[in-house]
Amino acid sequence: MDSRFATHVAWTSDQPLGLSVDWAEGPFIYLEDGTRIIDLISGIAVSSLGHRHPRVVDAVRRQLDRHLHVMVYGEFAIESQSALAHRLSTVLPASLSRVYFTMTGTEANEGALKLAKKYTGRRRLVAFDRSYHGDTHGSLSVTGRAVYRDPFVPLLPDVAFLPFGEIDALSAIDDTVACVIAEPIQGEGGVRVPSVEWMVALRDRCSETGALLVLDEVQTGFGRTGTLFAFEAFGIVPDILTVAKAFGGGMPLGAFIAGDDVMDALRRDPPLSHVTTFGGHPVSCAAALASLEVLLEESLPARAVLIERRVRKALDHPEIVEIRGKGAMLGMLLHDADVTGRVVRHCLDEGVLLGWTLHGDSLVRIAPPLNIPEAVLDEALAVMLRALDRESPARP
Ligand SMILES: Cc1ncc(COP(=O)(O)O)c(C=O)c1O
Repeated sequence: MDSRFATHVAWTSDQPLGLSVDWAEGPFIYLEDGTRIIDLISGIAVSSLGHRHPRVVDAVRRQLDRHLHVMVYGEFAIESQSALAHRLSTVLPASLSRVYFTMTGTEANEGALKLAKKYTGRRRLVAFDRSYHGDTHGSLSVTGRAVYRDPFVPLLPDVAFLPFGEIDALSAIDDTVACVIAEPIQGEGGVRVPSVEWMVALRDRCSETGALLVLDEVQTGFGRTGTLFAFEAFGIVPDILTVAKAFGGGMPLGAFIAGDDVMDALRRDPPLSHVTTFGGHPVSCAAALASLEVLLEESLPARAVLIERRVRKALDHPEIVEIRGKGAMLGMLLHDADVTGRVVRHCLDEGVLLGWTLHGDSLVRIAPPLNIPEAVLDEALAVMLRALDRESPARP
């Protein structure tokens, strides 16, 4: 491990992978010692076009030649921001017409919570067990795992957590609630897909009570689950949509998106009550527009469906209890946490990078680039099967 990394970069666990990356391209990451790694996790659902897609790199270069940061968010009409906001409006429902750009997912959720409070004048928030919305104080307050909240209390007051996916529990949402925040498919909480009935009931309950529905598509957005946004498959539309991760094509970018009526609440009483210096950085916006065009031109959301089929067919193994998720956002639940750790390690030793969830020890997770060539995916799945065979106690 790089001794400067070991000594001076902050660690967030006692077992960082510590891989020294030299360069990356397409589905591959190359280490400084020349090792080639197949990236089946895409920087946790970020590099949906693979690494350094030429169209994204070209857009970044062109923007670098024009300008970098010039003015705090929203005060100048910056061409790359305006072009991206307009293009988004052409692929989103008409009610999601205004984009507030951020840099990260947690910041997008912070903005959404503040917007909901300001628009409704209400203070209570509702979220779901096992949810993950980010690590800043507001987003952490609505993250549904006490073990991650407890070291940082007091957080926001007036947050209620309901069981994810249970229709009866939705009656707890009433007309004192500013917003309900949910992931359409929970990622870090264990790759959990709720039923269409539940999502429709959630939408209905929010409409009945005037609570805004915030859907956090930071992880599910931009084709990962088989449609451009996961909410499309449930046949509902949120009041506020939050995005990040794959949005920037590898550059840092997030957003919360709402209708004019809701977003107007940010303009006054007082003006400038929610600003961010770097939100919607011109280079990130240029990269995001190029990335979105490639995603649409190459029908990559549909490719996510093919990836799911291929993975489910290939990974038929007794050590796998269940394959959860949708499209190219999948989690393999194994019988045993120790075996899970060994399988992930074994795959890395054989050049395949898998994911893990923040909140689930026995879950191996994959989120490959949506344009991963079939042959590369098959190569990685073969490595996974070998690892499962070797590490599974039932198959010594
Ligand atoms: C659903 C969801 N929301 C929010 C976040 C936080 O995003 P960021 O790490 O960009 O702050 C994540 C990150 O994993 C996420 O999966």
